[in-house]
Amino acid sequence: MTTRNILIMPGDGIGPEVMAEVERLIAWFNAHGKTRFETARELVGGAAYDVHGTPVTEAAMEKALAADAVLFGAVGGPKWASVPYDKRPEAALLRLRKDLGLFANLRPAICFDALKASSTLKPEIVAGLDIMIVRELTGGVYFGEPRGITNLPNGERRAVDTQVYTTHEIHRIARVAFELARLRGNKVASAEKHNVMTSGLLWKEEVTKLHAAEYRDVELTHILADNCAMQLVRNPKQFDVIVTDNLFGDILSDEAAQLTGSIGMLPSASLGARDAATGRQRALYEPIHGSAPDIAGQGKANPIAAILSFAMCLRYSFAMKAEADAIERAVAAVLDQGLRTGDIMQPGMKLLGTNEMGSAILACLAKTV
Ligand code: IPM
Ligand code: MG
Repeated sequence: MTTRNILIMPGDGIGPEVMAEVERLIAWFNAHGKTRFETARELVGGAAYDVHGTPVTEAAMEKALAADAVLFGAVGGPKWASVPYDKRPEAALLRLRKDLGLFANLRPAICFDALKASSTLKPEIVAGLDIMIVRELTGGVYFGEPRGITNLPNGERRAVDTQVYTTHEIHRIARVAFELARLRGNKVASAEKHNVMTSGLLWKEEVTKLHAAEYRDVELTHILADNCAMQLVRNPKQFDVIVTDNLFGDILSDEAAQLTGSIGMLPSASLGARDAATGRQRALYEPIHGSAPDIAGQGKANPIAAILSFAMCLRYSFAMKAEADAIERAVAAVLDQGLRTGDIMQPGMKLLGTNEMGSAILACLAKTV
């Protein structure tokens, strides 16, 4: 029997609630599947800060580096609004991404048929939507130097962030996008601001070069990031794979998430480079949504994004395609049965809490696997 080591980092707010449903799923697979999942847990974000005075301890970082995959909940909340900037809950997530080398962030925006009326857009605009946003995750303005706030002689303060990309960073993320496109609709839209930013110009030129050299069979278009934001609400189904930098990817993926009805539905995978010798690839899976402090601790949160993130973990880290498909089918089935959490509630449907939604998905899964 294969053993897989998973580090679970529930984090803050609704993170622990939605991750509890993922842990039930893992326990179910341990009881019924051919793979043995060994899990460990670590505090992260504000929860870690409260106990250890840091949003992620060195011991937790070591476990994350050693794990076959990390399952991450969510971090942050008003409670930690005034902690020092380098100790804020989000700093833990950024450090995990950077130290694990998770440069490729896959954010699929899929509109389940049962939810097409939940979107704030017209159903015909979003029905059948299936986009993959490929966001660069370890570069750009999130990590660029110099950065910081300085005091000027005239009494003003000045802040600097640096947007920076090198050719190899652009090539490796574009490669992920082209490879994924070949398995889907074979189209890549590269979103940047080459009309204003030199990093955008380099991005466009390097994506074009790589395409000409290795991916001529994939249809490539370039789109200005602002136009991409507009096209996503005008006609989102024109897109297949969108590849973009760290900051634009952050923004465009929140926008794409809302097209699907609720940000509570969207999973993500953050992947590192595959080690050529060992075949090992570091990976972290997390729902796109945040810690939702307004509903935390009430058992109301939608666990589907976290559950679908675990499905992505099975698909991308453990090559368990059948099991990943089964989880996704179970989610679609409960939605078809009219079961809803508050964020996707519609008239005539049945309102469930976090734990009940987890149970409904487990029950469906048990029937199909
Ligand atoms: C995301 C989040 C993070 C980001 C925050 C929590 C640091 O918004 O994963 O999209 O900005 O990348
Ligand atoms: Mg974001």
